[in-house]
Amino acid sequence: MKTVTSQDKIPPGPKHRFLGANASLKFYTNIAGYLKDKQKQYGDFVLLKATNHPIYLINNLEYVEQILVKESKNFTKGTGYQRSRVILGNGIFTSDGEFHDSQRKLINPAFHKSRIEEYYKTVAFCTNDFLTKWGNMVAENPNIDVQTEITRLFIAIIFNSMFSSDSSEELIDLGAYYTELFNSANPFLLLDPQRAIKLPLPSVKKFMKTKNELDFKLRELIKKRKKEDTFVDLDILNMLMHAESNEGKRMSDDELFDEVRTLFVAANDTSAKVLTWALYNLSQNPDAKAKCLSEINTALDGKFPEYNDYQELKYIRMCINETMRLYPPLWMITRTPINDFFLDDYLIKKDSSIFMVPLFFQKDERYYANPESFIPERWTDEERKKRPRLSFVPFGAGPRYCIGESFAMFHLVIILSAILQKFDFKLHPKQKVEISSSMLLKPKYGMTMILEEK
Ligand code: HEM
Repeated sequence: MKTVTSQDKIPPGPKHRFLGANASLKFYTNIAGYLKDKQKQYGDFVLLKATNHPIYLINNLEYVEQILVKESKNFTKGTGYQRSRVILGNGIFTSDGEFHDSQRKLINPAFHKSRIEEYYKTVAFCTNDFLTKWGNMVAENPNIDVQTEITRLFIAIIFNSMFSSDSSEELIDLGAYYTELFNSANPFLLLDPQRAIKLPLPSVKKFMKTKNELDFKLRELIKKRKKEDTFVDLDILNMLMHAESNEGKRMSDDELFDEVRTLFVAANDTSAKVLTWALYNLSQNPDAKAKCLSEINTALDGKFPEYNDYQELKYIRMCINETMRLYPPLWMITRTPINDFFLDDYLIKKDSSIFMVPLFFQKDERYYANPESFIPERWTDEERKKRPRLSFVPFGAGPRYCIGESFAMFHLVIILSAILQKFDFKLHPKQKVEISSSMLLKPKYGMTMILEEK
């Protein structure tokens, strides 16, 4: 093992400490913009100093592979995730080490490809229901804030997939309100969440009150199901409740609760952002939209997409991939080394932060010609093979890659096809579109579209 010496190289970077300096304002108001400036200035490996905390900005794909895949055991997800446990709990998204690995083993079967067919019924039911409601809304007023509507649809899908008939309209309303407040809860981005939740601000109080209500409801649902102890519904909660380790141990009530709220947060907002951006991209690219419609006509012949149609909807999948290339919801992936670590001759200090930004390497000219353009044709098997694997990581990579990837891709393709089949849409002329790089990459000013039922 390599040891620390005075010869160890230090990556280039700004001399000033950016927290506390003017630069910090840009860091907080436009984090992605700040990091992009530094990458342009200093290259693929940059050292940023924040008070006494080094941050390494890494855009070199070999190093990214070393950190996320080959030597992943040497890293935790980082201080940001540890701190956010006060809001998200200690589920598999935020936990580390042996606890994470054993929870992941227990949860994996609930997201195995074979389970997707079961979840299809829920996806179809919720989508039909929502698209009928959208039809009624459009008849009254064709201007629809698609980001809000789509988020609600994904909340309905994840709650129904987790709790089957125990899910309710009231729970979906509460989940939607929680998500809205979570997305606008800026103090959580600026401060350590453990401190932020104690701030005497009306916005924080409202968020915490809603969070406590939602937590209470989720605990009640788990309690009810445990009392019944049936395995009738093949939903996610039942899969988690009955999952056993090699030693025959099941999750405790607290562990179940943490995993349920983790899945709720991880599943709905990410997928909703992708679908919102996909509609935006198609509204701006009529040729791609026409190709989608032609594929849908041939594959579906007027019927609602069925489970087996997924394989046939290749161009739709390509549009989803191209959307996630341009707008990866988790636009930055972070890690922290458990011990001092070396990338070639560069020393990466223990407990420092490493920022890897898919938003940058997925738009890097070295891998993508015309990187800012929406070109779904990049996603044929042939084109894909020409690029390094880690030049596209919207679902992460290595042992901590997204557990819900297959589920996410499946429902995105089915729902986008169903929307295209039922509605025509265009961007509202007054809608300004810019990205906001808060926790997730979202449209800064919402996404109002004019919908027309076919
Ligand atoms: C398009 C939608 C989605 C995107 C872009 C996405 C993206 C990601 C990414 C990038 C990670 C890895 C984070 C890291 O390494 O630091 C991740 C992890 C995770 N995702 Fe997703 N996700 C999506 C949908 C879902 C869905 C539908 C679910 C559940 C039903 C889900 C559950 C999770 C969980 C539990 C983890 C943590 C896995 C672990 O650490 O072992 N995600 N996701």
